[in-house]
Amino acid sequence: VTPERSPEPLVKAVAAAAGLSRRKAFAAVRAGRVRVGGVAVTDPSAPYQGGDVELDGRKLHPAGDKVYLLMNKPAGVITTVTDTHGRLTVLDLVPVELRLPGLHPAGRLDRDTTGLLVLTNDGDLTYRLTHPSHAVDKEYWLRSSPPLTEQALQRLRRGVELDGRVRRPLDAGRLPPESGYETTVTLREGRKRQVRRMVEALGARVTALKRVREGSLRLGDLPQGAVRRLTEDEVQALREGRPRAARDAPARP
Ligand code: URA
Repeated sequence: VTPERSPEPLVKAVAAAAGLSRRKAFAAVRAGRVRVGGVAVTDPSAPYQGGDVELDGRKLHPAGDKVYLLMNKPAGVITTVTDTHGRLTVLDLVPVELRLPGLHPAGRLDRDTTGLLVLTNDGDLTYRLTHPSHAVDKEYWLRSSPPLTEQALQRLRRGVELDGRVRRPLDAGRLPPESGYETTVTLREGRKRQVRRMVEALGARVTALKRVREGSLRLGDLPQGAVRRLTEDEVQALREGRPRAARDAPARP
């Protein structure tokens, strides 16, 4: 026998499905912005018995659905879900209809780093992407001041000391000017501010840093600040830890 469960209040369902705080969800329901099964409901404590929930005319997802997103993170936005002290976070950039319960960034980028960031509510994929035991390689493009000389690039390839160990990139090279960047660096590990600190160890300072690839997944031409769903194939490739896609190899002079 399944025990009777009393239905949850609408405010709770809206908060969960839209990734809103209870307070914001309450206000949204009160303001008549929420419809259930096509009918406006303005009582936040009304029981939610299932059915399509819309916020501002956009359908929200039931709890349990999985979502896999690719963001081109702009600079000035922090990669976190909590404790933001009012600062703009990557979740704020996700359209509300994609903000499923539990959505979080599957990895980190510094505040001023741009580029590829995966967000999901699938903890298994996050583990796959972030756990050091099967870390995927990540490719970054950068500019620095002063720009890295040939000698500095060779030092970088040999490895620089960081946190008590010599760290060698998987790959480091020049980029063509039309890329807008100067140097590409591929790392398998992801220590805090690793690219920036490796460049500092060479006597330069990173002035722009963008992640363009994570394993098989490429940023492509997704505009800055934009978010798109990953395709099933892209998700599967990340799960399997497939190496980089043969097509779309990085441009090299
Ligand atoms: N390395 C850095 O220094 N910063 C990032 O955001 C990612 C890698």
